[in-house]
Amino acid sequence: MKSDILNFFSEIHAEGIHAKGRLGTNVLLSNLDLSPKDKLLELGCGTGATLLKISRVFSDASLFGIDLSSSMVEKAKQRLRFCGVNSIEIKHAKEEKIPYPDASFNIIVVESVLAIQEGESLRSTLLECKRVLKPNGKIIFNETIWLDQTNKETIEEINLACKKNFGIIQANQHYPYLSDWIELLGSIGFKTKKIIKGSTFNKEMVSVKPYQFRSYLFSKTGSLKKYLKLGVYKEWKDYQGRMKEILNYNVPLMEGIIISAKLINE
Ligand SMILES: C[S@@+](CC[C@H](N)C(=O)[O-])C[C@H]1O[C@@H](n2cnc3c(N)ncnc32)[C@H](O)[C@@H]1O
Repeated sequence: MKSDILNFFSEIHAEGIHAKGRLGTNVLLSNLDLSPKDKLLELGCGTGATLLKISRVFSDASLFGIDLSSSMVEKAKQRLRFCGVNSIEIKHAKEEKIPYPDASFNIIVVESVLAIQEGESLRSTLLECKRVLKPNGKIIFNETIWLDQTNKETIEEINLACKKNFGIIQANQHYPYLSDWIELLGSIGFKTKKIIKGSTFNKEMVSVKPYQFRSYLFSKTGSLKKYLKLGVYKEWKDYQGRMKEILNYNVPLMEGIIISAKLINE
């Protein structure tokens, strides 16, 4: 039985592996305050679809992506080649250090990467983000955060089951609630500027809707493997079944939240 769902996602060229998928990305990009010539890093860029969308909206910005998974990095590079884009640099982060020098970027974009860090790794990952940001740099992320009414026993139970079945936790339990995230950001030196809860996401919030036909095609060809390759089909059905079993609660437990924060320089 396979237990790393991220390998499966890279195999099928998945994009939007975060709360509210494409809508979540479009709301985030509509709140991306980028100036021409800014340097932007996407932490945990997965198969590269969001970076391509950003390149459509902010053609003057310099774009960089890193990912801990070599298979994700391979797929992101394949996607860029398929789309004929050679202006985005993708690097494999071989450990949880960001492979760039201090003060390299104006902004860091993150979708569903911080929440899956376990325990204090969430703090150390944010400290790494701070290190590579320029003075007054910004971070904007869409991460799944537990709702205040979800008790710590349920959180622990779900995380244990997710880790065992999918190879990753659902969402950090050391900093479980929104107030913990805001406090954590503050303690690191980030001032929270905006919070948009996933339950309020809607199309009216979207001012940019970047469309990249070839990137869409790349995602589709990967997703077709679910139907054309028996091994991939079985793996997909297996994950679907396990997800239903583990995350089948009749009350909402968590939601994706977009937070943008600015580095306050000491
Ligand atoms: C749930 S996926 C999300 C991928 C992409 N951001 C998206 O929303 O479609 C999480 C990604 O983050 C990567 N990742 C996890 N921890 C990381 C870290 N510390 N540094 C860089 N990438 C990381 C994983 O390899 C994976 O590709």
